[in-house]
Amino acid sequence: NTGFRGVIAVDGPSGSGKSSVCREVARTLGLRYLDTGAMYRAVTWAALDRGLDLTDQPAVAALSRALVLDVATDPASPRIAVDGVDVTAAIRQTRISENVSAIATNLDVRSDLIARQRALIEEKGAGIVAEGRDITTVVAPDADVRLLLTADENARIARRARELHGNDDAASLAATHAQIATRDARDSTVVDFLVAADGVVEIDTSPLTFEQVVAAVLRVVSETAGAP
Ligand code: DC
Repeated sequence: NTGFRGVIAVDGPSGSGKSSVCREVARTLGLRYLDTGAMYRAVTWAALDRGLDLTDQPAVAALSRALVLDVATDPASPRIAVDGVDVTAAIRQTRISENVSAIATNLDVRSDLIARQRALIEEKGAGIVAEGRDITTVVAPDADVRLLLTADENARIARRARELHGNDDAASLAATHAQIATRDARDSTVVDFLVAADGVVEIDTSPLTFEQVVAAVLRVVSETAGAP
């Protein structure tokens, strides 16, 4: 515990390792942790659960605005519930990953979730690590620390394959490659998370181990925000 109680904003593409890194950084600094991608996944879960046509943007946005999203920000057990149903595990299913871009490119859903994310970040003034695609640029451009975690495509695919399939053999790599490339292409039509905005520190995680990325982030925090 360092006394740092500010906001750390982290963006990056899928497979940059940012979720596990951000959780560990939050744990180390005694801060809360917010996974904004989980919120887009939760709305996707709800839209599929209600049988909505995901391309019906007004209907999906109306659903989003009506949902009670309960987001727990303890880095030791980040959980999310939709109208009282815990969907923490369900939102990691392939059917959610395959459909979430339709929700994340719905601009009215985005404004609803961005407002909720800002409220969560400001809550209690307790300090937080918030991660996603547009945190450094849109959700919290005034954050004390702003970081972009990047990784080259091979590193991202290998990490994601190990997450999804438990290994990085040829079949897992091929399956993951298709998934990541399609999703990043679709997602980056509404937010640019591949180039660091002005004042955002970029860390290329490709050659680094998990521990090295965590250490690099903590170093930036202490340099820019004065935490030891
Ligand atoms: O990081 P993730 O895979 O859980 O993100 C899920 C989806 O939500 C992904 O398609 C990117 C999108 N997303 C977004 O557009 N903006 C954010 N702040 C976070 C995620």
